[in-house]
Amino acid sequence: MDEALPRLYREFAPWFHLLTAPADYADEAELYRRLAAEACAVPPRTLLELGSGGGNNASHYRAHFQATLADLSPAMLAISRELNPECEHIEGDMRSLRLGRLFDVVLVHDAVMYLLTGDDLRACMATAFAHCRPGGVAIFAPDCTRETFTPGTSHGGHDGDGRALRYLEWTWDPDPSDTQYTVDFAYLLREGESVRVEQDRHIFGLFSRDEWLAWLREAGFAEARVTPGVEEGLEVFVACRAAH
Ligand SMILES: C[S@@+](CC[C@H](N)C(=O)[O-])C[C@H]1O[C@@H](n2cnc3c(N)ncnc32)[C@H](O)[C@@H]1O
Repeated sequence: MDEALPRLYREFAPWFHLLTAPADYADEAELYRRLAAEACAVPPRTLLELGSGGGNNASHYRAHFQATLADLSPAMLAISRELNPECEHIEGDMRSLRLGRLFDVVLVHDAVMYLLTGDDLRACMATAFAHCRPGGVAIFAPDCTRETFTPGTSHGGHDGDGRALRYLEWTWDPDPSDTQYTVDFAYLLREGESVRVEQDRHIFGLFSRDEWLAWLREAGFAEARVTPGVEEGLEVFVACRAAH
């Protein structure tokens, strides 16, 4: 496993669904389903998600697609397998994965934020293109672009069976001149009556809307556009591969 991954995707992976619950992803998954259906030349049936994490989106879209879920973290693949036993799960890096198969839809959700350089983001776009069939679509849903980034704090969490998690998420940018920003998390992990506190740092990549669009076209997509995401301020990139 990649030791550079945040602790959330290694030792705390079994807590992931108490940080962000699958039930909260229905609207988002439906948006990606609709965007895919509108963009594809024929009704889409197969989907590859790069960086599928806990499989939260997949738990909703799997009713519509034959889904293949790829992630770098074996611990995250394990919790996704429990949630989505009917989906194929594959360990792989979104920058280099080559399955030698084509899909109607390639989805890259918030996992794309872990790509910190333009070269890495372009490598991921090349992976998406390599797995997108002619007439198919790639959908990228980053948390933000350079234009929509805002520092701030938020909190949340959920109760589970004998366990509960609450978190504080603190988003800040130590150096606005580079292509990264920082998200520091404090997790409160409760098991029975005992509570412990853990800290975790996530580093995210930050690129402009124009860079996104230009790199998607460079990757080979015939058309790339931005469309509103599921919440105010979120944007989704939709990239279509020519049918011929
Ligand atoms: C926030 S989780 C994704 C959650 C997912 N959107 C869902 O619906 O459950 C981010 C995931 O990105 C994965 N990841 C980070 N870098 C990656 C890479 N280079 N290739 C593949 N997966 C990666 C992590 O292992 C983690 O599981």
